[in-house]
Amino acid sequence: MVQRVFSGIQPTGTLHIGNYFGAIRNWASLQEDHDCVYCIVDYHAITTEIDPKVLRAASRSMALDLIACGIDPQRTILFTQSAVPEHTELAWIFGCVTGYSDLARMTQFKNKSAGKKFVSAGLFIYPVLQAADILLYRATGVPVGEDQVQHVELSRRIARRFNARFGEFFPEPEPIVGKGARVMSLADPAIKMSKTAGEAHYIGVMEDERSIHSKIRSAVTDTGLKPGATMSLGVANLFEVLDLSGGLLGDRSAAAELRTEFESGKLMYSRLKDTVFENLMEVLRPIRQRRRELEASGIVEDILREGANKARVIARENMTKVREMAGLVIR
Ligand code: TYM
Repeated sequence: MVQRVFSGIQPTGTLHIGNYFGAIRNWASLQEDHDCVYCIVDYHAITTEIDPKVLRAASRSMALDLIACGIDPQRTILFTQSAVPEHTELAWIFGCVTGYSDLARMTQFKNKSAGKKFVSAGLFIYPVLQAADILLYRATGVPVGEDQVQHVELSRRIARRFNARFGEFFPEPEPIVGKGARVMSLADPAIKMSKTAGEAHYIGVMEDERSIHSKIRSAVTDTGLKPGATMSLGVANLFEVLDLSGGLLGDRSAAAELRTEFESGKLMYSRLKDTVFENLMEVLRPIRQRRRELEASGIVEDILREGANKARVIARENMTKVREMAGLVIR
């Protein structure tokens, strides 16, 4: 049987190259031989404050980004989470088999709540909704970047708890983590690339070319160029982006050549940065071109509606079974 894969992305702001290299390009390649369900998780997005108008536009925009990155709505179910309310229903049931202390341990919760005056209960139970997303489709594979692995592991635990209490029903999903699972910020290579860290910390897939150039140009490196020196985090991150781009372009020679120069202490970082920029733009240009064409075609609403209809068929069927197992009213 073909393995079912599920993954999600928050429609907060723009898609960055960490999302792309860490997750989305894997989402695209998994379509070749898996049954894929991909979701724009707007319920998750409201765990922190976001203007409703901005959110709606961002969900639509994320759908365009994903299709431009190669998510194919003909083969794959692509939809918005809130169009399938069964996600929240299953999340409630899962909340009743999830330990409070399991949630309190989540690294993302600790990071996102640190120093905040108001922390919503939604942010705390965020991983429960994530488990519901995955398991509502009884998916067994979850392509994600490294920062989401802990949440997928919690989903396994939740599946086990549900099965032990109500009977065997859910599989234990496995994270699928590829190369590029942790792209770091260019401005501060000690932290991961993210939208929340601020403008300087990420490169948007659709960002203005000049702006990308200037961000790469000002990426943090180091001053030492001695032969045999250990690579600093910033330089290693630039090489990582170069390797990932070269991998997609099918030509890793630029990275290999520059690595040799680094080892002999001769590498000029300005050359490294220009090469990173050129290779990255070669990866991004066709995506941006497709995005422009799609935007003009105006078909994204239909794609999302159709995706939600398909997702709902699976969701309804599984929820009927879950309700029955948990002793809840069968509708
Ligand atoms: P989100 O929206 O923060 O990120 C989407 C995907 O991008 C990956 N990612 C990265 N990969 C490499 N380097 C980085 N710097 C980087 N930053 C982000 C993330 O690991 C993720 O795979 N909670 C999830 C969304 C979600 C979900 C789900 C995922 C909701 N339900 C069910 C999988 C299954 C999130 O906030 O991802």
